[in-house]
Amino acid sequence: MRLKILSGVVLILFIIIRIAEADTVTLQYPPDNVAMEFDLLNISLEVPKDSADLIKAKVNDKESASIVPDNKYECFSVLLSPGINRVEITASKKGTQVFNVTLNVFRRSDLAREFIKIPAGFKKDYFHMGDNSRCAECHILEPRETDRKPVNPASFIAEAFDKEAVIRATSTCYSCHNKIAASPYVHGPVAVWSCLSCHDDKSDPKYSVKKPDTEVCYGCHIEQKTDWQSKKVIHGPVTLGKCTICHSPHSSNYPFNLYKATWDLCVNCHADRGSGTHVLGNSFFPGGHPTRDKPDPVRTGKELSCASCHNPHASDYPHMWAFEARDMFELCRKCHTDK
Ligand code: HEC
Ligand code: HEC
Ligand code: HEC
Ligand code: HEC
Ligand code: HEC
Ligand code: HEC
Ligand code: HEC
Ligand code: HEC
Repeated sequence: MRLKILSGVVLILFIIIRIAEADTVTLQYPPDNVAMEFDLLNISLEVPKDSADLIKAKVNDKESASIVPDNKYECFSVLLSPGINRVEITASKKGTQVFNVTLNVFRRSDLAREFIKIPAGFKKDYFHMGDNSRCAECHILEPRETDRKPVNPASFIAEAFDKEAVIRATSTCYSCHNKIAASPYVHGPVAVWSCLSCHDDKSDPKYSVKKPDTEVCYGCHIEQKTDWQSKKVIHGPVTLGKCTICHSPHSSNYPFNLYKATWDLCVNCHADRGSGTHVLGNSFFPGGHPTRDKPDPVRTGKELSCASCHNPHASDYPHMWAFEARDMFELCRKCHTDK
């Protein structure tokens, strides 16, 4: 008899807990203390019917998302800054807070010395190695052959594919990762959602990309490979095979999918060259030679930058000059034809 009462109580408790659980907002992704490579973080919340009427996310105290939930799951993404980000997610119902969680997320960056290494306490989380059956209710998770379209830089025309309906129908990855291609300058294979041309679904961890970058980049950019490897001087980061120090493999706000405008990118590592004094030496122009904010006299339509005089990858000429010039005098005359 006692046993019966006891099991009855346990059952009721169990039901109460189930109901309470089913009624509240829960965070599905991400876990705390994850480390990310890029600036996008996906967030997924389970929001049972009538559990909340407003969801907000703040990144480093700045509002980054505000959503009126209308789904059992609410999925959105926020932008991260290099370093540790404090991500606060709250849900409220009729003005009363019903859910609150704060996560620390580290975003790595090769261009900020202090953030190159993942600090202790943070680690990469391999989402695609975990149990994602909850997500599979609404999303397709296993890749298809159409996630590996052939893309050849020599014959590529992005516009021919750039139709959202086509992308949705042919990409498994699009429904969750759509923001990855949302910046203005989109890399060819990403524009057509050929994600598997770099992310191997058979690798361990799943979808990891071969390192160094040249292992994947030179697979398609064969012309550049042959050209650069034949040069006398190859730029430090290129020698190391680190193309993604400067180029986003996905999309960015700058031409050539660069992480920063060319001048800022170069000065990031060569801070002492920004003034342009190195071009003229200790001549009677103490202000130095202009390195920006002027039209490039040779490359019409482009701004003067470090790349006006230096090739960012490789060159046969002194100091990695972008021109066929054996000495300073020859270099100057490429632009100053009157001198
Ligand atoms: C009840 C259905 C449902 C479930 C379950 C679900 N999602 Fe979603 N998710 C959606 C819908 C609908 C969209 C919008 C899709 C679109 O625009 O193509 C979406 C979009 C997304 C996005 C893109 C957000 C953005 O920034 O545009 C991500 C990321 C995402 N889901 C992740 C997940 C993850 C992770 C899970 C499992 C923990 C999950 N979803 C479970 C319905 C669901
Ligand atoms: C259900 C939504 C969903 C779908 C569909 C999806 N992803 Fe993801 N993916 C995520 C989430 C969430 C993460 C966690 C990291 C983040 O915030 O971007 C992630 C992370 C990744 C990562 C980083 C490594 C990892 O495992 O965390 C890669 C690479 C990746 N996805 C590639 C793909 C590719 C390629 C496809 C298509 C074949 C795909 N994803 C489809 C939700 C999804
Ligand atoms: C040109 C090669 C290339 C293509 C094409 C490509 N990626 Fe990536 N992706 C990379 C590299 C390189 C990384 C960084 C991997 C690392 O260092 O761990 C990466 C990382 C990621 C990550 C992890 C982000 C993070 O912050 O940790 C996600 C998610 C991802 N890719 C999704 C996609 C999706 C979706 C597509 C298809 C639209 C795609 N990628 C196409 C090269 C590529
Ligand atoms: C699957 C083939 C493929 C791979 C792998 C690949 N690319 Fe590309 N890449 C392309 C295509 C296609 C284009 C577009 C060419 C065009 O627009 O004329 C392109 C264009 C570019 C451009 C020039 C963009 C512009 O505006 O002219 C850069 C820079 C670039 N890729 C860098 C990389 C880097 C870095 C990697 C390695 C992380 C890489 N690519 C890997 C196919 C590839
Ligand atoms: C130090 C930064 C840096 C690194 C590292 C780098 N690039 Fe570039 N890349 C640039 C810049 C800057 C431009 C644009 C140059 C211009 O304005 O003409 C560019 C342009 C390109 C282009 C288009 C124009 C061309 O020259 O064909 C391709 C393709 C490219 N890079 C691929 C790569 C690949 C592949 C790697 C790795 C082997 C790589 N880049 C490494 C900075 C870099
Ligand atoms: C991630 C850091 C990094 C970035 C970004 C970078 N460089 Fe470099 N650069 C190096 C390293 C490392 C070396 C080789 C060591 C040295 O000489 O300081 C180097 C060497 C050079 C050299 C001397 C080459 C020689 O041996 O004669 C020139 C010129 C140069 N870089 C120009 C540029 C230009 C132009 C840009 C922008 C397109 C740029 N760098 C961006 C790291 C970088
Ligand atoms: C108008 C042409 C011109 C521009 C623009 C220019 N440089 Fe230079 N750069 C030169 C010349 C000429 C030299 C050789 C100077 C010497 O011999 O002392 C040089 C040398 C260098 C070196 C040293 C190379 C070595 O062999 O050690 C680096 C690094 C460098 N420049 C980086 C940059 C960066 C970064 C920018 C953009 C902020 C830039 N340059 C803009 C012409 C230019
Ligand atoms: C890539 C093209 C390019 C090369 C190479 C180049 N210059 Fe210039 N130079 C310019 C531009 C652009 C200006 C700015 C003109 C203006 O103000 O309209 C300039 C301006 C100057 C000025 C005037 C500076 C001032 O403050 O008014 C001098 C002097 C000069 N260059 C000398 C040189 C010398 C010496 C060399 C060779 C070491 C050289 N330049 C190589 C493009 C170049």
